[in-house]
Amino acid sequence: MSGSLNIPRHVAIIMDGNGRWARERGLSRIEGHRAGAESVRAIVRAAGEAGVEFLTLYAFSLENWVRPRAETSALMRLLTHYLRREVAELDKNNVRLEAIGRLDDLPKVAQRELEEARRATAKNTGLTLILALSYGGRAEIVDAVRGIVADAHAGRLKPEQVDEKAISSRLYTARYPDPDLLIRTSGEMRLSNFLLWQMSYTEMWITPMLWPDFRKPEFMRAIEDYSKRQRRFGGVEPA
Ligand code: IPE
Ligand code: IPE
Ligand code: MG
Repeated sequence: MSGSLNIPRHVAIIMDGNGRWARERGLSRIEGHRAGAESVRAIVRAAGEAGVEFLTLYAFSLENWVRPRAETSALMRLLTHYLRREVAELDKNNVRLEAIGRLDDLPKVAQRELEEARRATAKNTGLTLILALSYGGRAEIVDAVRGIVADAHAGRLKPEQVDEKAISSRLYTARYPDPDLLIRTSGEMRLSNFLLWQMSYTEMWITPMLWPDFRKPEFMRAIEDYSKRQRRFGGVEPA
Protein backbone atom coordinates (compact mmCIF):
# COMPACT_ATOMS: atom_id res chain seq x y z
CA MET A 1 0.00 0.00 0.00
CA SER A 2 2.76 2.41 0.92
CA GLY A 3 4.92 1.07 -1.90
CA SER A 4 4.58 4.09 -4.18
CA LEU A 5 4.84 6.66 -1.41
CA ASN A 6 7.92 8.59 -0.41
CA ILE A 7 8.01 7.55 3.24
CA PRO A 8 9.59 10.04 5.67
CA ARG A 9 12.46 8.43 7.59
CA HIS A 10 11.66 10.36 10.74
CA VAL A 11 8.19 11.52 11.80
CA ALA A 12 7.72 13.70 14.89
CA ILE A 13 4.26 14.20 16.41
CA ILE A 14 2.86 16.79 18.82
CA MET A 15 0.05 14.72 20.30
CA ASP A 16 -2.34 17.51 21.30
CA GLY A 17 -6.04 17.74 22.16
CA ASN A 18 -6.66 15.08 24.81
CA GLY A 19 -8.23 17.65 27.16
CA ARG A 20 -10.57 19.04 24.49
CA TRP A 21 -11.57 15.53 23.41
CA ALA A 22 -12.55 14.74 27.01
CA ARG A 23 -14.38 18.04 27.54
CA GLU A 24 -16.50 17.48 24.43
CA ARG A 25 -17.66 14.23 26.03
CA GLY A 26 -18.14 15.51 29.57
CA LEU A 27 -15.21 13.38 30.75
CA SER A 28 -12.22 14.29 32.91
CA ARG A 29 -8.98 15.39 31.22
CA ILE A 30 -7.42 12.19 32.54
CA GLU A 31 -9.94 10.14 30.54
CA GLY A 32 -8.76 12.09 27.51
CA HIS A 33 -5.16 11.11 28.20
CA ARG A 34 -6.22 7.48 28.61
CA ALA A 35 -7.93 7.57 25.20
CA GLY A 36 -4.81 9.25 23.79
CA ALA A 37 -2.70 6.26 24.87
CA GLU A 38 -4.79 4.10 22.50
CA SER A 39 -3.86 6.38 19.62
CA VAL A 40 -0.19 6.00 20.57
CA ARG A 41 -0.61 2.25 20.25
CA ALA A 42 -2.29 2.53 16.83
CA ILE A 43 0.20 5.05 15.42
CA VAL A 44 3.29 3.14 16.57
CA ARG A 45 1.94 0.14 14.70
CA ALA A 46 0.97 2.17 11.59
CA ALA A 47 4.36 3.90 11.44
CA GLY A 48 6.19 0.59 11.66
CA GLU A 49 4.02 -0.92 8.93
CA ALA A 50 4.54 2.09 6.66
CA GLY A 51 8.32 1.73 6.94
CA VAL A 52 9.05 4.85 9.00
CA GLU A 53 12.44 4.40 10.74
CA PHE A 54 12.11 6.91 13.60
CA LEU A 55 8.95 8.12 15.34
CA THR A 56 9.33 10.80 18.01
CA LEU A 57 6.26 11.40 20.15
CA TYR A 58 5.94 14.53 22.29
CA ALA A 59 4.36 12.92 25.33
CA PHE A 60 5.15 15.44 28.07
CA SER A 61 6.86 18.81 27.84
CA LEU A 62 9.07 20.49 30.41
CA GLU A 63 6.38 23.18 30.56
CA ASN A 64 3.62 20.63 31.24
CA TRP A 65 4.86 20.38 34.86
CA VAL A 66 2.91 23.60 35.57
CA ARG A 67 -0.37 21.68 35.19
CA PRO A 68 -2.28 20.67 38.35
CA ARG A 69 -0.52 17.99 40.32
CA ALA A 70 -3.44 15.57 39.88
CA GLU A 71 -3.01 15.74 36.09
CA THR A 72 0.79 15.41 36.00
CA SER A 73 0.63 12.48 38.45
CA ALA A 74 -2.03 10.77 36.35
CA LEU A 75 0.10 11.28 33.21
CA MET A 76 3.12 9.75 34.95
CA ARG A 77 1.02 6.78 36.07
CA LEU A 78 -0.32 6.35 32.54
CA LEU A 79 3.22 6.41 31.18
CA THR A 80 4.30 3.75 33.65
CA HIS A 81 1.29 1.56 32.76
CA TYR A 82 1.82 2.08 29.05
CA LEU A 83 5.44 0.94 29.28
CA ARG A 84 4.57 -2.07 31.42
CA ARG A 85 1.68 -3.11 29.18
CA GLU A 86 3.25 -2.44 25.78
CA VAL A 87 6.82 -3.65 26.11
CA ALA A 88 6.01 -7.20 25.00
CA GLU A 89 3.99 -5.92 22.03
CA LEU A 90 6.74 -3.46 21.04
CA ASP A 91 9.29 -6.22 21.23
CA LYS A 92 7.10 -8.54 19.16
CA ASN A 93 6.86 -5.84 16.48
CA ASN A 94 10.64 -5.33 16.44
CA VAL A 95 10.29 -1.78 17.84
CA ARG A 96 13.22 -0.26 19.74
CA LEU A 97 12.11 2.14 22.47
CA GLU A 98 14.18 5.17 23.47
CA ALA A 99 13.50 8.44 25.30
CA ILE A 100 14.71 12.05 25.19
CA GLY A 101 14.27 14.90 27.67
CA ARG A 102 15.19 15.63 31.27
CA LEU A 103 14.40 12.06 32.28
CA ASP A 104 15.70 12.62 35.83
CA ASP A 105 12.57 14.74 36.43
CA LEU A 106 10.33 11.67 36.03
CA PRO A 107 9.16 9.71 39.08
CA LYS A 108 11.56 6.88 39.95
CA VAL A 109 9.05 4.17 39.06
CA ALA A 110 8.57 5.64 35.56
CA GLN A 111 12.36 5.88 35.14
CA ARG A 112 12.71 2.22 36.08
CA GLU A 113 10.01 1.09 33.60
CA LEU A 114 11.61 3.21 30.90
CA GLU A 115 15.00 1.65 31.56
CA GLU A 116 13.48 -1.81 31.52
CA ALA A 117 11.62 -1.17 28.23
CA ARG A 118 14.77 0.25 26.67
CA ARG A 119 16.84 -2.72 27.75
CA ALA A 120 14.21 -5.24 26.57
CA THR A 121 13.96 -3.68 23.09
CA ALA A 122 17.55 -2.47 22.59
CA LYS A 123 18.44 -5.13 20.02
CA ASN A 124 15.38 -4.61 17.82
CA THR A 125 15.97 -3.41 14.28
CA GLY A 126 12.56 -2.08 13.17
CA LEU A 127 10.99 1.25 14.08
CA THR A 128 12.81 3.36 16.69
CA LEU A 129 10.14 4.87 18.93
CA ILE A 130 11.46 7.92 20.79
CA LEU A 131 9.34 9.26 23.63
CA ALA A 132 9.95 12.94 24.44
CA LEU A 133 9.40 13.20 28.20
CA SER A 134 9.95 16.28 30.33
CA TYR A 135 11.34 17.55 27.04
CA GLY A 136 11.96 21.20 26.16
CA GLY A 137 13.76 22.35 23.03
CA ARG A 138 15.46 25.33 24.66
CA ALA A 139 16.48 23.26 27.69
CA GLU A 140 18.04 20.74 25.32
CA ILE A 141 20.08 23.49 23.63
CA VAL A 142 21.11 24.82 27.06
CA ASP A 143 22.31 21.33 28.04
CA ALA A 144 24.32 21.10 24.80
CA VAL A 145 25.91 24.53 25.37
CA ARG A 146 26.90 23.49 28.89
CA GLY A 147 28.67 20.45 27.41
CA ILE A 148 30.49 22.66 24.90
CA VAL A 149 31.61 25.12 27.58
CA ALA A 150 32.81 22.24 29.79
CA ASP A 151 34.82 20.78 26.89
CA ALA A 152 36.28 24.21 26.07
CA HIS A 153 37.18 24.77 29.70
CA ALA A 154 38.96 21.41 29.82
CA GLY A 155 40.93 22.37 26.71
CA ARG A 156 39.25 19.75 24.51
CA LEU A 157 37.49 22.21 22.22
CA LYS A 158 38.60 25.45 20.56
CA PRO A 159 36.11 28.21 19.62
CA GLU A 160 36.71 27.59 15.90
CA GLN A 161 35.77 23.93 16.42
CA VAL A 162 32.27 24.93 17.50
CA ASP A 163 30.15 24.28 14.44
CA GLU A 164 26.67 22.86 13.75
CA LYS A 165 27.94 19.33 14.23
CA ALA A 166 29.41 20.24 17.62
CA ILE A 167 25.93 21.31 18.69
CA SER A 168 23.93 18.50 16.98
CA SER A 169 26.18 15.85 18.46
CA ARG A 170 25.49 17.13 21.99
CA LEU A 171 21.70 17.19 21.67
CA TYR A 172 19.57 14.36 23.09
CA THR A 173 18.88 13.43 19.47
CA ALA A 174 22.55 13.08 18.46
CA ARG A 175 22.00 9.56 17.10
CA TYR A 176 18.87 10.34 15.06
CA PRO A 177 18.37 12.11 11.74
CA ASP A 178 16.37 15.36 11.84
CA PRO A 179 12.59 14.89 11.49
CA ASP A 180 11.34 14.93 7.90
CA LEU A 181 7.71 15.43 8.86
CA LEU A 182 6.08 17.08 11.88
CA ILE A 183 2.44 16.27 12.59
CA ARG A 184 0.42 18.29 15.11
CA THR A 185 -3.11 17.35 16.06
CA SER A 186 -5.92 19.62 17.31
CA GLY A 187 -5.16 22.53 15.02
CA GLU A 188 -2.70 24.64 16.99
CA MET A 189 -0.18 26.37 14.68
CA ARG A 190 2.82 26.35 16.99
CA LEU A 191 5.88 24.31 17.95
CA SER A 192 5.43 24.50 21.74
CA ASN A 193 9.20 24.16 22.31
CA PHE A 194 9.53 20.85 20.41
CA LEU A 195 12.81 19.94 18.64
CA LEU A 196 13.62 23.57 17.85
CA TRP A 197 17.11 22.97 16.48
CA GLN A 198 16.24 19.76 14.64
CA MET A 199 13.19 21.09 12.76
CA SER A 200 14.86 23.83 10.74
CA TYR A 201 13.78 22.13 7.47
CA THR A 202 11.04 19.78 8.66
CA GLU A 203 7.80 19.65 6.65
CA MET A 204 4.75 20.49 8.76
CA TRP A 205 1.30 18.94 8.66
CA ILE A 206 -1.41 20.15 11.02
CA THR A 207 -4.83 18.54 11.41
CA PRO A 208 -7.81 19.81 13.42
CA MET A 209 -8.46 16.23 14.54
CA LEU A 210 -7.95 15.73 18.29
CA TRP A 211 -5.26 13.24 19.31
CA PRO A 212 -7.57 10.50 20.70
CA ASP A 213 -9.34 10.44 17.30
CA PHE A 214 -6.08 10.29 15.33
CA ARG A 215 -5.58 6.81 13.91
CA LYS A 216 -3.99 5.09 10.92
CA PRO A 217 -6.19 6.63 8.13
CA GLU A 218 -5.34 10.20 9.18
CA PHE A 219 -1.68 9.26 9.70
CA MET A 220 -1.54 7.88 6.15
CA ARG A 221 -3.13 11.12 4.85
CA ALA A 222 -0.22 13.02 6.38
CA ILE A 223 2.28 10.64 4.77
CA GLU A 224 0.55 10.95 1.39
CA ASP A 225 0.62 14.73 1.62
CA TYR A 226 4.32 14.65 2.56
CA SER A 227 4.95 12.36 -0.38
CA LYS A 228 3.76 15.04 -2.84
CA ARG A 229 5.90 17.80 -1.42
CA GLN A 230 9.08 19.11 -2.89
CA ARG A 231 11.75 19.96 -0.35
CA ARG A 232 14.21 22.65 -1.39
CA PHE A 233 16.51 23.31 1.59
CA GLY A 234 17.06 26.82 0.33
CA GLY A 235 17.66 25.82 -3.29
CA VAL A 236 15.56 26.44 -6.41
CA GLU A 237 12.86 24.32 -8.00
CA PRO A 238 14.47 21.75 -10.34
CA ALA A 239 13.86 22.56 -14.04
C1 IPE B 1 -1.93 16.66 24.92
O1 IPE B 1 -3.23 17.01 25.21
C2 IPE B 1 -1.30 15.83 26.01
C3 IPE B 1 -0.27 16.55 26.79
C4 IPE B 1 0.12 17.77 26.58
C5 IPE B 1 0.33 15.83 27.89
P1 IPE B 1 -3.59 18.26 26.11
O2 IPE B 1 -3.70 17.81 27.53
O3 IPE B 1 -2.67 19.38 25.87
O4 IPE B 1 -5.05 18.60 25.54
P2 IPE B 1 -5.68 20.04 25.29
O5 IPE B 1 -4.71 20.83 24.49
O6 IPE B 1 -5.93 20.64 26.65
O7 IPE B 1 -6.94 19.75 24.55
C1 IPE C 1 2.48 20.29 23.55
O1 IPE C 1 1.14 20.44 23.88
C2 IPE C 1 3.12 19.29 24.46
C3 IPE C 1 2.72 17.90 24.25
C4 IPE C 1 1.92 17.47 23.31
C5 IPE C 1 3.30 16.96 25.17
P1 IPE C 1 0.65 21.57 24.89
O2 IPE C 1 -0.82 21.41 25.03
O3 IPE C 1 1.45 21.53 26.15
O4 IPE C 1 1.02 22.90 24.11
P2 IPE C 1 0.48 24.39 24.27
O5 IPE C 1 0.56 24.74 25.74
O6 IPE C 1 -0.93 24.41 23.79
O7 IPE C 1 1.37 25.22 23.41
MG1 MG D 1 -2.67 20.97 24.60
